[in-house]
Amino acid sequence: MASLHVKINNIWQDLRSSEGMPALDVVRGELGLTSTKEGCREGDCGACAVLVGEQVGDMVRYRAVPSCLLALGELRGKHLVTLEGLVEGAKDGLTPVMRAFLDENASQCGFCTPGFIIALTSWLAEPQVPDLAGALRAIDGNLCRCTGYGAIRRAAARLVERFKDLPLESGARLKTLVEAQVLPPSVLEFMAESAGKPEADSVSRKISGNAPARGGNADNAVPVAVVGGGTDYYVRNPDPEEGFSPFLTRMLPEFGQIRYVSDREDRWLEVGAAVTVRDFFSSHVVRHEVPGIERFETMFASTLIRNLATVGGNIVNASPVADITSMLLALGARLVIVPEADAGNKNTPLRLCPLEQFFLGYKKLNLGPGEVLKAVWIPVLADPSSRKFSFEKASKRRNLDIAAVNMAISFRIDKGRFRDVRISLGGVAPVPLLGIGAQEVLEGAPCDVSDKKSLAGLAKNAARRAESAISPISDVRGSSDYRRRMVHQLMLAHFIRLFETSGVAEELFP
Ligand SMILES: Cc1cc2nc3c(=O)[nH]c(=O)nc-3n(C[C@H](O)[C@H](O)[C@H](O)COP(=O)(O)OP(=O)(O)OC[C@H]3O[C@@H](n4cnc5c(N)ncnc54)[C@H](O)[C@@H]3O)c2cc1C
Ligand code: FES
Ligand code: FES
Repeated sequence: MASLHVKINNIWQDLRSSEGMPALDVVRGELGLTSTKEGCREGDCGACAVLVGEQVGDMVRYRAVPSCLLALGELRGKHLVTLEGLVEGAKDGLTPVMRAFLDENASQCGFCTPGFIIALTSWLAEPQVPDLAGALRAIDGNLCRCTGYGAIRRAAARLVERFKDLPLESGARLKTLVEAQVLPPSVLEFMAESAGKPEADSVSRKISGNAPARGGNADNAVPVAVVGGGTDYYVRNPDPEEGFSPFLTRMLPEFGQIRYVSDREDRWLEVGAAVTVRDFFSSHVVRHEVPGIERFETMFASTLIRNLATVGGNIVNASPVADITSMLLALGARLVIVPEADAGNKNTPLRLCPLEQFFLGYKKLNLGPGEVLKAVWIPVLADPSSRKFSFEKASKRRNLDIAAVNMAISFRIDKGRFRDVRISLGGVAPVPLLGIGAQEVLEGAPCDVSDKKSLAGLAKNAARRAESAISPISDVRGSSDYRRRMVHQLMLAHFIRLFETSGVAEELFP
């Protein structure tokens, strides 16, 4: 078994465990770094959070991720920091983040505390102006069951006050945080060691595994276990067999790009399948092509999960309520599919598949054995600012909850009329659907923002058509009737968001 070269806190180590093992088991079991806790083992509690440093482009970046869902192979050539590593530079044994927790009595039994410290340290390391909203967002995937969140919030507020003037340039920021003993000196060592090196080596292995059924017919192809971020895979397979060595999409640079591509006359924005949900929403080009999409980021899971989960994993996992799938369906996305064996080869022929033709039945995909999803293409508009986009999701909790129903809508307004209307419906059938009837109601209809009555009438018509076209099942997340009514209400909610100043809200709900 090949060894994995990883910097663990302040020492480079060669790990012998297989690449598909959840990192948590190695961190606690093999390395004895027991500050990293095992709570839920499903990405829900944040107790297992670790900091992972890696070279991205020409800079080094640190982000907190849940180690229970992280494939060990992802760490090749990277820097893993646990709480034991964080305190290495702290003169009195406490970093300023830990000190803030102590001063505010924000820890009681202490089981959750390492995860909170790691998540808040990661937030400070990110090049943004610290504010309380950002700090609380950083810990939206961390649960505490005994202290209460008031004290944790006050500790976060202390950090905002103390670190409000951090440099925004990432290298300077990391150096400042090492000087302030928030981060350990091993961060500076890792930055020096990474300078001028290519990004982490590729890993590509084949082995059969527990993936959704694939409907394709590639001859003699070997089924592959593919892992993106692992946030679905390891929830379903928490204890993989010894020797498990999947194809890790995040280790292939070709799968991690966001760039423009052309195909005959058309231009597309290509989003690599291994782009994380976090990077998707942060991308300036994604925000340029889909104005306002960043508003919907925090509806997806938590910061810890978004740091790990990939766009491709969301699609191939084939959940009828997958949020990114819902957004991409409304945006008219196409999938770029390649044979896994040639995945890293730039000249491999691509198979293109409109996203709506990818789902053949519940968890049954238009993806042959041996094929992997390489990227997603989003159509580029001549004038991106003409695109109107909205996403809605009905779930019990704001964070860390899967939708009962979700819905996205995308259209242009051209010469006062709705054009290129696409509406996705999730959670109302075994696969994500397009709301064809509702699209027909809107396509070509007049769109006069000064006429709230006509807008409200259109919203109600589209809502009725969407609702009447579906026959959802009842399950733990909601009854059939509830889902139908939510589809109706979510359509109205789109109109209220997209025509906020028109008065349509008052017209719909006088
Ligand atoms: C706590 C928690 C909260 C969550 N909240 C949400 C939420 O709010 N909204 C939501 O939509 N989802 C949510 N999820 C589900 C999950 O995070 C997403 O579906 C995520 O996008 C999956 O991406 P991944 O990279 O982690 O997939 P993985 O787990 O790596 O893979 C998922 C499946 O896709 C296959 N696969 C992955 N990449 C490829 C590829 N490139 N080619 C072929 N096959 C591939 C894998 O083999 C696997 O079968 C949540 C999960 C957790 C644990
Ligand atoms: S153990 Fe709960 S998120 Fe990993
Ligand atoms: S301090 Fe006990 S769970 Fe948070």
